[in-house]
Amino acid sequence: MKKINLTTSFTVFDNLNELSEELKNLFNEAIKVRNTAYAPYSKFQVGCAILLDNNKIVTGSNQENAAYPSGLCAERVAIYSAASQYPKSKIVTIVISARSENKIVDKAVAPCGACRQSIAEYETKQDKAIQIYFSGETGDIIKADSLKDLLPLGFDKTYL
Ligand code: THU
Repeated sequence: MKKINLTTSFTVFDNLNELSEELKNLFNEAIKVRNTAYAPYSKFQVGCAILLDNNKIVTGSNQENAAYPSGLCAERVAIYSAASQYPKSKIVTIVISARSENKIVDKAVAPCGACRQSIAEYETKQDKAIQIYFSGETGDIIKADSLKDLLPLGFDKTYL
């Protein structure tokens, strides 16, 4: 028997001013699209902006449904949209921004497990790490250099 240690690390930014102009712009897109969230049940609005290697930005927001599991998170709305509009392009950066009508979201909102799995599929497909920045309405912004940092020991096609 042996133990293995997996190390994962993140970069924490105090606020948007610590980011490049390109990233600030991507954050602005995520914040803007957050307003298109259809979240009448949770009142939790998430925006996602994706930068592709063709320099296009694709955005998405969470879309809920009265049959709760039929809804979809902002991240998956955005990545599936990007993959269907630009199937040959690689994802460079994903930015996520969340707010709530019920309270101030003051900590960085990390993507849910299902979204991590979905993003992992594209990271594997493109064989290039995807940078992921996530944030609340206020507070720190957290950056992962790769989806693997958010989903170590993930399931992928090599098991099939
Ligand atoms: N949600 C997202 O869109 N992304 C996340 O990373 C976490 C959760 C959505 C799903 C649902 O519409 C609402 O936020 C509350 O869970």
